[in-house]
Amino acid sequence: MELLCINLFIQICLLTQFVKCYDSLNSSSSFSSSSSSPLPVKLHVSPSTVKIYNGIVKLRLINPTGLIKGIAYKDIHNVLEHEFKDHERGYWDIVWTRPEIGKSNFDKLQCTEFRIIAQSDEQVEVSFIKRWNVSLGDNVVPLNVDKRYIMLRGVSGFYSYAIYEHLENWPDLDIEESRIAFKLDQNMFNYMAISRQKQRLMPSGAERAAGTVLAYKEAVLITNTTHPTLKGQVDDKYQYSCDNKDNHVHGWMGSDPHIGFWVITPSDEVRVGGPMKTDLTSHAGPIALAIFFSNHYRGPYYGIKLRGGEHWKRVFGPVLIYLNSDSGNDHPSLWKDARKQMLRETKKWPYDFPSSADYPNAKQRGQIYGRLLVHDQYISTHLIKARSAYVGLATPGDQGSFQDDTKSYQFWTRADRKGFFTVKHVRPGTYNLYAWVPGVIGDFKYEDNIVINPGSKIDVGDIVYNPPRSGPTLWEIGVPDRTAFEFYVPDPHPGLVNKLYINHVEKYRQYGLWDRYTDLYPNNDLIYNVDDGDYRKDWFFAHVTRKTCNNTYVPTTWKILFNLTNIDSVGVYTLRIALACANLANIQVWINELNTSTPHFSTGRKGRDNAIARHGIHGRYWLHGVGIAGSQLVEGINTIYLKQAAGGNPFVGVMYDYIRLEAPSQQEY
Ligand SMILES: *[C@@H]1O[C@H](CO)[C@@H](O)[C@H](O)[C@H]1NC(C)=O
Ligand SMILES: *[C@@H]1O[C@H](CO)[C@@H](O)[C@H](O)[C@H]1NC(C)=O
Ligand SMILES: *[C@@H]1O[C@H](CO)[C@@H](O)[C@H](O)[C@H]1NC(C)=O
Ligand SMILES: *[C@@H]1O[C@H](CO)[C@@H](O)[C@H](O)[C@H]1NC(C)=O
Ligand SMILES: *[C@@H]1O[C@H](CO)[C@@H](O)[C@H](O)[C@H]1NC(C)=O
Ligand SMILES: *[C@@H]1O[C@H](CO)[C@@H](O)[C@H](O)[C@H]1NC(C)=O
Repeated sequence: MELLCINLFIQICLLTQFVKCYDSLNSSSSFSSSSSSPLPVKLHVSPSTVKIYNGIVKLRLINPTGLIKGIAYKDIHNVLEHEFKDHERGYWDIVWTRPEIGKSNFDKLQCTEFRIIAQSDEQVEVSFIKRWNVSLGDNVVPLNVDKRYIMLRGVSGFYSYAIYEHLENWPDLDIEESRIAFKLDQNMFNYMAISRQKQRLMPSGAERAAGTVLAYKEAVLITNTTHPTLKGQVDDKYQYSCDNKDNHVHGWMGSDPHIGFWVITPSDEVRVGGPMKTDLTSHAGPIALAIFFSNHYRGPYYGIKLRGGEHWKRVFGPVLIYLNSDSGNDHPSLWKDARKQMLRETKKWPYDFPSSADYPNAKQRGQIYGRLLVHDQYISTHLIKARSAYVGLATPGDQGSFQDDTKSYQFWTRADRKGFFTVKHVRPGTYNLYAWVPGVIGDFKYEDNIVINPGSKIDVGDIVYNPPRSGPTLWEIGVPDRTAFEFYVPDPHPGLVNKLYINHVEKYRQYGLWDRYTDLYPNNDLIYNVDDGDYRKDWFFAHVTRKTCNNTYVPTTWKILFNLTNIDSVGVYTLRIALACANLANIQVWINELNTSTPHFSTGRKGRDNAIARHGIHGRYWLHGVGIAGSQLVEGINTIYLKQAAGGNPFVGVMYDYIRLEAPSQQEY
């Protein structure tokens, strides 16, 4: 019996029949999280260790830092990597900077005080606290941290959340990421699952270390491996990233014993940046992450910036770390069980068991409902139902500002087919209601502030989004959905493949696609003719630089050709350019001639979301409207030049979401 020391074993068994107890600890017995008579939760505190256990899982925490040194499951002593030191196995962490000092710090938030918050047969909650004061100096993050761990009777895992607080008049502080990291036993876990379609055998950490580093350290070609199928494949953690809206369960499995380790995120409230914010999940190591926020796919401007001694407090989590096993060897069965548990957790949200007053229960929250309609007179004289719109409450700001907001809570939902929506479980506070509609450009913001009180049920009724529009559509390229998904994504270089993404809808996750542009367009850039072009085949998904024979990366200029007749020479045409990502790019627009000294329009150098290098299909969304005088256009074939004017490296560029040319407004409307 490795799981529990003899003392502990007897202690538990005194509380119930021996057989029942033994049964729940037998690794071959099939496990169910709501087993008929789960054992009570127990807590054992010593000066060095805090242990919490419920007969299924035993969590061992370092006292008083609150780092996780062990997670025992059934008769497995530790699912975390025993070869790593106690404080390198499982931990909350942040990356922080004092802007006036400038040094970036990776910080495992080692706490100094331990407290028991709740203790009963049903539940144990413990807290590890770290408090800042000015005498601690510049090398300690000016933040109070309260890390919590909760174990419930009968739940095969544990919950964790944390409360961060920056008090008034404390120094300025930037926090660029916050997460919980788990380093799993390398001999136990080798199979990763991040969705139903994305599950695979993974290289070990040692196999990665023995591989060839590609364009950056995260991307490695596996060369030396005991698994013949892994040889010659690319491994990069960013190939497994996921939009927040889709990231609710991911983790690892092993065959002997047949076990699963899962990170379950029951609500988007624990994260920020909106439903399209992308982040890491699990990756080779084996490592599993619960990321609350980071600047991935958004850039260094994104993150918590506390200025002028402002007070800030926020809860991150809870997330559930869930373990499962069965006596078979069918990985999909463990995945399905983890997914079921995720759905159970989502249903239970908001939880009724966290004890912190900073985590409001269901009754202390409110909701808002209504119907979103779209008014676009050039599409329909009637109001259009905002089918499947994303609708959310976030900090008051400009349209679309939720994308850059990390400090506060956001609450998102999707409207139904008719545009009806209910945003539930909203914490009390003052918000703006934001929305965007797949198939429609731009961002909606409801004009009035929304004040949510405990128990609020606010009916906003029918609200109408008037998307940017000056006249009827002359032509369009792509679908306005904030991604470049519908465009042409090339096959990877045959020597740089990740087999998971062969014949996969997420083909864009392959490594090195930026250089495929040069392979396809070695000398002349892309030309798209709107009359007979098919954007699914003829529009490369990313407007990147071209690699030259001397390995420099140079700007590229794409051409859109279109035939115009009956030009309104005194009217103003409008070119809409929606970007799905931008990385240090400068898109310049030229109309019919490329020889003028200045472009007709320029976005200026913009974006740092790095989605091209990170195998994304989008990063941050941007929308530009460019007026074009009718006098600049000609009867017959016109050319719009899109010059990505910045060069230097392969990752400079944009992905277009959608481009549209509108004629001048029609007076009769
Ligand atoms: C425990 O597992 C073993 C196989 O490993 C099995 O033979 C035994 O019957 C199980 N015991 C109980 C109490 O389920
Ligand atoms: C500041 O923090 C240190 C370390 O926790 C503690 O020893 C000290 O008493 C604190 N000082 C004040 C003024 O609170
Ligand atoms: C491959 O890896 C094994 C085990 O790590 C090591 O012993 C061997 O030297 C490696 N071979 C090469 C060619 O690097
Ligand atoms: C590399 O080639 C490009 C054109 O192909 C040229 O403009 C540039 O000057 C060259 N750079 C170097 C360092 O040779
Ligand atoms: C442009 O469109 C007009 C009207 O459809 C057509 O008559 C003309 O031939 C077209 N011009 C070209 C160059 O395709
Ligand atoms: C630019 O080139 C076009 C022909 O391509 C010519 O008609 C125009 O006059 C030129 N403009 C300038 C400013 O040189």
